[in-house]
Amino acid sequence: MINIVINGTGISTDEGQTILDAAKSADMEIPALCHYENHENGTCRLCMVQVKGNPRLVPSCSTQISEGMEILTESEKPREYRKSLLTMLMQDHGSHEGEKEEKCSLHGYAEEYGIEPAAVRAVNSSADRTHPGIEFDASLCIKCGKCVIACNDEQGNDVIGFRSRGQDLYIAFDSDRMLGESSCKSCGACVDVCPTGALIEKDWVSADRSVVSMCPYCAVGCTIEYGVRSEKIVWARGIEGQGVNEGKL
Ligand code: SF4
Ligand code: SF4
Ligand code: FES
Repeated sequence: MINIVINGTGISTDEGQTILDAAKSADMEIPALCHYENHENGTCRLCMVQVKGNPRLVPSCSTQISEGMEILTESEKPREYRKSLLTMLMQDHGSHEGEKEEKCSLHGYAEEYGIEPAAVRAVNSSADRTHPGIEFDASLCIKCGKCVIACNDEQGNDVIGFRSRGQDLYIAFDSDRMLGESSCKSCGACVDVCPTGALIEKDWVSADRSVVSMCPYCAVGCTIEYGVRSEKIVWARGIEGQGVNEGKL
C-alpha cells in the first residue's frame, strides 16, 4: 500500500495507480476528457494537478502516485489552468441539438468553471448524418482520440483515424469517407466513449435515471448501464473498464 494526501485527506491505496485513479478510488473527481481506462492517451491536459515540491502542474491521468505524495487538485493553479483550457476549447465548440448537450462533458465542465460559449451558434447543418444510427458533428470534436482507440484498439474495426496535422488535424472514417459509406460495423463503441457528443446516437435523449445491470442473454454476463426515461429504456451502453466486458458491448 502507498500513503498519499489529496486535498488534505490522507489516503492509503494500491501501488502502481495514477493520481486520477487514486482520487477516483477515494470518490474525488478530477476533471478529465481524454482519459481512457487501460490506454495511454493524454491529449486534453484538463486533468492537470499540483504536486507539492514540483513547480509544474502534472497530468493526473499519467502520473503515478508515490509514497508521501501531496496532491492539490482544486488549488488556484490547476483551476486557473483548466479555466484557460476550457475557454480555449469552448471558443471553437459548436452547438448541440436539443437535449444532446447533456451528453457533453466539455459543456458540463465549462458550466462548472463559469465559462460561456464564445458565441451562440446554430446547430451544424453539415454534420455527417449518413449513418442510420450515428451522427458525427466535427464542430463538437475536441480531437481527444478516444473514438480512435475504441474503434481500432478495443473493437479491432479500424474505421476511425486521424488525418492531417496540427491545427488541421481531424477525425476521418476509412480515410475520408462519410460515416454511412464507411466500413463501420455499428458497434457503438466510439459513441459510448466520446466525451463531447460529437459522435452520438441520432435519436439520443436524456434519461431520468440510469440503472447498472447485467445482460442475461448469454453466459458472459456483460455489465450494461441503461438510461431510463418515463420507465422506458432510452439508451444502453457499457461502462468504461467495468465488468467482464470492460465497457465493450
Ligand atoms: S460504431 Fe464501431 S465500427 Fe463504427 S466507427 Fe464507431 S467504433 Fe468504429
Ligand atoms: S469524435 Fe469524440 S471521441 Fe472522437 S476525437 Fe472527437 S471528441 Fe474525441
Ligand atoms: S484526462 Fe489526462 S490528459 Fe486528458
